[in-house]
Amino acid sequence: MSRGRGVFISFEGIDGAGKSTHIESLAAAFRASGRAVVLTREPGGTSLAEKLRTLALNEPMDALTEALVMFAARRDHLMQVIEPALARGDAVLCDRFTDATFAYQGGGRGFDAKVLAVLESWVQGVPGVEGLRQPELTIWFDLSPAVAAQRLAGARVPDKFESQPVEFFARVAAAYAQRLQADPKRFARIDADRPRELVWTDVLAAVRAKGWL
Ligand code: TYD
Repeated sequence: MSRGRGVFISFEGIDGAGKSTHIESLAAAFRASGRAVVLTREPGGTSLAEKLRTLALNEPMDALTEALVMFAARRDHLMQVIEPALARGDAVLCDRFTDATFAYQGGGRGFDAKVLAVLESWVQGVPGVEGLRQPELTIWFDLSPAVAAQRLAGARVPDKFESQPVEFFARVAAAYAQRLQADPKRFARIDADRPRELVWTDVLAAVRAKGWL
């Protein structure tokens, strides 16, 4: 028997925007409210998709190859983990989803967003779901690339994306802004250049505005 509708939330932002702690706090809040939580990430979230993540974050590849790897990982993740969790009525908290492909491969790498939209329509077409499977809420941690670069400096060994110059992240941020403009009802933009408690207050407010928690 169905335990009611699941909840699908994605979290986005440039590297260094500080989403991780808030995702964990939100998972705790959902659990405390009595809802099972699947805390997951992209690329990744399944054994196959985590292997694809290692390749995508470490191997040089052209932009189309990179986009195909991201979407291949996404399809596996969606079918193996996200759809079953939503069918159970769980809260799926996903650290990045398709907006990241539009932002990084589209904006950052300059790859054709129309091709990405075709891949999106293939990959997120799911049996029993009208239209495409999309998060119901996307929390975008908006931080200027210069501040993000300061936060990341010396934090850890950078991966392929984290080592990109600040101009790359300016294009990533601009592409996130375009995704928000195309679907404003799905997005909550949060100014991430503030103390953590204030950012958290806004995260919680965005979730409650959807009628959850
Ligand atoms: P990230 O989510 O920041 O994880 P961590 O905090 O462990 O570094 O790293 C994932 C990286 O992958 C990030 O730099 C963005 C990139 N990415 C893409 O380029 N395209 C995508 O479609 C996704 C999901 C991520």
